[in-house]
Amino acid sequence: MQEKTKAKILDGKLVANKVRDGLKVRVEAILSQRLRTPGLAVVLVGDNPASQIYVKNKIQACKKVGIESFLVQFPADVPQDDVLASIAKLNRSEAVDGILVQLPLPKHLATDVVLDSVDPDKDVDGLHPLNLGYLAAGRQGLRPCTPQGVMVLLEHYNIQVNGAAAVVIGRSNLVGKPLSLMLLEKHATVTICHSRSQNLEEIARCADILVVAAGRECMVKQSWVKPGATVVDVGIHKRVVPGVFGAGESEIVGDVDFQEVASVASFITPVPGGVGPMTIAMLLSNTVYAYEQRAASK
Ligand SMILES: NC(=O)c1ccc[n+]([C@@H]2O[C@H](COP(=O)([O-])OP(=O)(O)OC[C@H]3O[C@@H](n4cnc5c(N)ncnc54)[C@H](OP(=O)(O)O)[C@@H]3O)[C@@H](O)[C@H]2O)c1
Repeated sequence: MQEKTKAKILDGKLVANKVRDGLKVRVEAILSQRLRTPGLAVVLVGDNPASQIYVKNKIQACKKVGIESFLVQFPADVPQDDVLASIAKLNRSEAVDGILVQLPLPKHLATDVVLDSVDPDKDVDGLHPLNLGYLAAGRQGLRPCTPQGVMVLLEHYNIQVNGAAAVVIGRSNLVGKPLSLMLLEKHATVTICHSRSQNLEEIARCADILVVAAGRECMVKQSWVKPGATVVDVGIHKRVVPGVFGAGESEIVGDVDFQEVASVASFITPVPGGVGPMTIAMLLSNTVYAYEQRAASK
């Protein structure tokens, strides 16, 4: 029997729509004053089906707020120099304000080298070392979309971060590490956990705010969560469940066992519909921000 949900949902779809509405107004204001539309270039290498869906969603989202998108596609076996030459061209392009390299890249490409080649002023994924350095130093700059989306979601629901005990499970450059810095910047007491952490369940249970970005399906159970905590689930997993007639149906789940944890937490993000939509909204927000910064510096 499924347990009853008690926690309030942190609705990423709703908040992302609100962010997008605000961006649409900003883009309309830009267009009413200037000739050029903000532009986002997406670099996609290979034919990974998940990456193709993510890229399609990002391009559609751009259209909805009036951002122009440019898709640059390469076959999986493209030489690295071709990718770097293309990024150099996008760096110089007047029409491009943001450049996103869809990850993961095929193994023969050095991800660090490719990401480092993006102009930091156009690095809307916030993954260039200069922008990660600005974040670490508490300075303004382009910030990684997923952690930024988590922070906006917490702010929207007035979750108190200042003074809270925050536990982040995961230390990737994409999510866990930058998110820990953002929580610290907002005065949380932050504990970062990873695959070598001992007593993970015990540490998680101390959290007022528990963020899970481990990439482990339904890892966090009810016993891991302090009653009344806020739980943010960054994980995304597609899994096949048996259908009524035996045929498999797929569903999307996170790193948190939602049914269990929702009965003990105060607030929880659903998967899907939690952090995912916020990530795309932050990409659009970073693109408009990059446009405005470039315009202001001219
Ligand atoms: N919703 C979104 O928009 C969005 C965006 C990005 C990612 N994601 C999802 O979020 C998840 C994490 O993404 P990522 O890019 O950060 O993944 P990642 O690069 O694989 O990093 C996973 C992190 O979790 C840690 N970890 C793995 N297993 C663990 C365990 N059993 N206990 C404790 N820590 C463990 C790893 O520790 P070590 O460092 O020790 O290896 C690593 O730091 C994935 O499911 C991904 O699909 C969602």
